[in-house]
Amino acid sequence: MFATDLGSNARFRRHLSKQIQAKQTQISLVPEPCEGLRLPAEQGGLPPRIADFIATHELPSPCLVIDVDVVEHNYVTMTRALPLSTVYYAVKANPCEEVIARLAQLGANFDVASPGEIALCLKLGVSPARLSYGNTIKKQADIAFAYTQGVRMFAFDSENELVKIANSAPGSKVYCRILVESEGAEWPLSRKFGCAPEMALELLVKAQTLGLDPYGVSFHVGSQQTNLSQWDSAIGRVAALFASTSELGVELRMLNMGGGFPSRYRANVRSVEEYATAVKQAMVRHFGAKLPEMIMEPGRSLVGDAGVIQAEVVLISKKSADEDKRWVYLDIGKFSGLAETMDEAIKYRILTPHDGGPTGPVVLAGPTCDSADILYEKTHYELPLDLKIGDKVLILATGAYTTTYSAVSFNGFEPLEAVCI
Ligand SMILES: Cc1ncc(COP(=O)(O)O)c(C=O)c1O
Repeated sequence: MFATDLGSNARFRRHLSKQIQAKQTQISLVPEPCEGLRLPAEQGGLPPRIADFIATHELPSPCLVIDVDVVEHNYVTMTRALPLSTVYYAVKANPCEEVIARLAQLGANFDVASPGEIALCLKLGVSPARLSYGNTIKKQADIAFAYTQGVRMFAFDSENELVKIANSAPGSKVYCRILVESEGAEWPLSRKFGCAPEMALELLVKAQTLGLDPYGVSFHVGSQQTNLSQWDSAIGRVAALFASTSELGVELRMLNMGGGFPSRYRANVRSVEEYATAVKQAMVRHFGAKLPEMIMEPGRSLVGDAGVIQAEVVLISKKSADEDKRWVYLDIGKFSGLAETMDEAIKYRILTPHDGGPTGPVVLAGPTCDSADILYEKTHYELPLDLKIGDKVLILATGAYTTTYSAVSFNGFEPLEAVCI
């Protein structure tokens, strides 16, 4: 039974986790859609099971509630739309044990970024053969840890990283991340990761001389990518790279397309099937019938719309008597889970108990004493005029990149709690 205090909450999660692990019996290669799943009427809406759960439980505030059946539905939809691709779930998007356990049970593999994520997957019974160490910035000791745990697939985008892998993970499969455009992405991942294709060519050849297995190439077109043509240009670059490495005697076998598929926030997004069609068409256009092994690393698109944060209105104020705009301060902000509101990039939908009544413009902000803790000031948001201090609000599609971005104790606030149902 769920209880409000945090100790009981942790016990509740452990109990659920044990139940799910017990169900982890076999891997099904062609997953069936989740039986009896109730989805919201519109994409990215409030999942009915979460609505019921919130209505019947006293939760700490703020609190993220995740419907693991929705994660399963998203996984099944993606694997059916892209049957030739292998999914490596990007653990960083939401590392809740129940989420990892369910995806493992469905046959997913995992993209991990650190020893902590490796240990988490292994603890949940995932074989190291199903892990890809996708971070291109790893400590030597962390590569060695991964190798001793049995991980044999590593990403790199620089010569020094390649040498580290050769030293601490001899003989492993390696793939080189290349720089690609990320225009159209609401959360771009450009510049920091990847190298120019010409450099990738040299490094993949060098990988072979270092005793590694030059397995393939990866890219990430940026998270919440709304421009489908980005996959075409990225896949075109990879195909050219496959051809030039082959001329130098190195036969690459794998293309890792990273993430980029969206969740639905305020703006409508195209369906997974439309994204999958764009990817498949680009693959055929650039590789013809000689398709390489394909890997996808979805994060946001699997868990985003499976989570809803319940938060509370702490204060409503105005900066001057004649100003229209109210400032609405919530008990959650940039430092307690909503980091992706940085530059107002991700625009979450918010439900209140007064929806349907008259509304007025607001600035939305978090509760900390940091003036950067403003969620939306430039983006036009309206909330009901009846909104009151103490009202609960629901922030939709917050299952991805929230709990893990929450500070441990900034201003003394507890990190964001999560409950999986
Ligand atoms: C290497 C890698 N793969 C996959 C992902 C997941 O991307 P998305 O959430 O857009 O699906 C990320 C996100 O940062 C990443 O860094």
